[in-house]
Amino acid sequence: MQTRYKPITIVAVLLGVLGVVGYLSPASPEEMPTRLLIENAGGKVIFTHKTHAEAYKVPCQQCHHESEQVSKNPVPCATCHPASYEEGFVAEHQKTIGKEYCNRCHHAELGELKYDHETHKDLVSGCTDCHHDPSIESEPSDCADCHAEQGDEAMPALQDAVHVRCGSCHEDMFEQKLKGCENCHVMTKGGTKNPPCMTCHYDSKKLPIPAKMEAYHAGCMTCHKAKGAGPYTPQDCNKCHFR
Ligand code: HEC
Ligand code: HEC
Ligand code: HEC
Ligand code: HEC
Ligand code: HEC
Ligand code: HEC
Ligand code: HEC
Ligand code: HEC
Ligand code: HEC
Ligand code: HEC
Repeated sequence: MQTRYKPITIVAVLLGVLGVVGYLSPASPEEMPTRLLIENAGGKVIFTHKTHAEAYKVPCQQCHHESEQVSKNPVPCATCHPASYEEGFVAEHQKTIGKEYCNRCHHAELGELKYDHETHKDLVSGCTDCHHDPSIESEPSDCADCHAEQGDEAMPALQDAVHVRCGSCHEDMFEQKLKGCENCHVMTKGGTKNPPCMTCHYDSKKLPIPAKMEAYHAGCMTCHKAKGAGPYTPQDCNKCHFR
């Protein structure tokens, strides 16, 4: 390195180090709100924020769990835990949530199929183990020629039709539920396709992420219950809520 560049390099490195330290160091206590008034339909809640962090020694990240690093401006819970995940949220959330958090929810998509048609043919007794007999398929063809993405009573959707057929011999793979998909599908982490959650979480009645009240109640009360301290029993509603 030429000598005349050295001072600049040193300054740049120092600034870099300071930048990293500044980023990693936690928000100072003064920047942390002491108490929070949380308005909601169940009656206002006064939350002793600072006492929780300091006296009860709850790490910031246990509540502000959107990232592993302590941030000076944690993301409000309702950004990701709205009152409901209805149309309003779906339409707006791409603008309100930082790009770095997309994969927290959109965490998987289906990649390639692991099964190979050609080699599989030799593992079974005949084409009609999977294909229909000639009364429906005059000759074996692509299931997707007739089975569409959406099914109805007369005609199962492609996904269901194929799964039923494969499942006739591979029941064990489907019994594993979510964990079993990877026997046949490569699961790509993250990704940009954003398939609906229920594509994979199909056996649950609701989205696999808590809405606002659930997130607060679960977040607050699970800990109280585990520690046997703070309000959590069904009689304790008014230890948090008041009118
Ligand atoms: C027991 C749970 C809990 C702990 C621990 C906690 N917080 Fe919070 N914090 C909250 C909740 C709940 C809110 C309200 C968020 C909202 O408005 O959606 C909040 C809000 C904040 C806000 C924004 C306040 C505002 O005006 O909107 C800051 C800044 C903050 N916390 C920093 C911290 C820091 C720094 C720590 C660790 C030293 C910490 N918090 C620990 C639960 C917690
Ligand atoms: C950036 C988005 C984001 C923010 C902000 C966020 N959450 Fe979450 N939260 C999630 C996701 C995604 C899940 C699903 C499980 C997971 O990935 O941890 C979740 C799960 C939860 C759960 C269930 C955890 C479990 O183990 O079952 C609780 C409780 C919760 N959040 C409370 C909160 C509270 C309270 C706040 C605000 C202090 C908050 N969250 C802020 C995205 C977020
Ligand atoms: C294990 C189940 C299974 C067996 C056994 C099977 N197929 Fe298929 N076949 C499929 C599936 C599923 C598709 C849909 C496309 C895909 O996944 O490759 C398909 C698609 C096809 C297609 C259309 C797509 C292409 O590859 O051109 C033809 C033709 C076909 N099969 C012929 C046959 C013949 C002939 C046999 C018997 C020798 C046979 N298949 C046995 C499951 C099977
Ligand atoms: C030529 C059109 C056509 C093709 C190609 C086709 N199907 Fe079907 N499939 C049908 C029709 C029509 C029905 C509904 C009639 C019935 O229930 O027998 C059906 C029903 C089914 C059902 C539910 C009833 C049952 O037989 O268990 C399954 C499962 C199924 N198909 C799987 C497949 C698979 C797997 C493939 C590809 C290997 C495939 N189908 C290709 C037309 C087709
Ligand atoms: C008639 C029975 C039968 C049907 C129907 C069938 N398979 Fe198979 N499959 C087998 C046999 C036998 C093997 C080889 C032994 C084993 O690994 O279980 C096998 C192996 C596999 C493997 C490799 C398993 C491993 O442990 O590595 C995959 C993946 C697979 N099948 C996927 C499929 C898919 C996808 C379908 C539907 C399109 C399907 N199978 C339908 C009988 C079947
Ligand atoms: C035995 C192997 C097997 C298992 C296990 C399996 N699948 Fe499939 N799946 C297939 C095959 C084969 C197709 C047809 C793909 C095609 O023709 O494009 C398919 C199609 C699909 C489709 C529709 C096509 C697409 O790519 O969007 C979805 C969605 C899907 N599977 C989801 C799942 C989920 C979720 C699980 C786990 C709960 C799962 N599958 C388990 C073999 C399997
Ligand atoms: C707190 C969880 C969460 C986060 C974080 C999140 N999403 Fe979503 N997103 C959802 C839910 C829930 C849906 C509705 C899907 C469903 O109903 O299965 C959705 C749907 C979508 C859709 C489909 C929209 C439609 O009209 O069908 C796209 C595209 C999308 N999200 C992009 C993003 C992008 C880009 C980001 C980051 C900026 C992001 N999401 C962050 C939860 C989230
Ligand atoms: C391509 C498939 C796929 C899609 C799409 C998908 N997930 Fe998942 N999800 C999985 C798998 C696989 C697991 C891990 C299950 C296990 O290991 O037990 C999982 C686990 C989770 C968990 C951990 C708790 C649980 O229920 O097991 C949450 C929370 C979650 N997903 C939320 C979501 C949300 C929210 C969406 C939609 C925005 C979504 N997922 C879309 C495949 C998917
Ligand atoms: C990780 C653990 C943890 C979480 C999360 C937590 N708390 Fe607490 N909380 C405690 C502990 C420990 C006490 C102390 C009880 C005592 O000393 O009797 C407490 C006490 C309380 C009390 C009574 C005393 C006081 O300081 O006000 C209230 C009210 C309370 N918590 C509200 C909340 C609310 C609201 C939330 C969610 C936003 C929450 N807590 C989240 C651990 C937690
Ligand atoms: C540990 C403190 C705590 C306890 C105990 C508690 N809650 Fe809550 N509750 C909260 C907080 C914080 C919110 C705010 C979340 C939000 O904005 O939806 C809330 C929100 C609510 C809401 C409003 C939901 C909305 O959409 O605005 C209702 C209703 C509610 N609680 C009822 C109850 C009932 C009933 C009980 C007793 C069985 C109870 N809560 C116990 C802290 C608590």
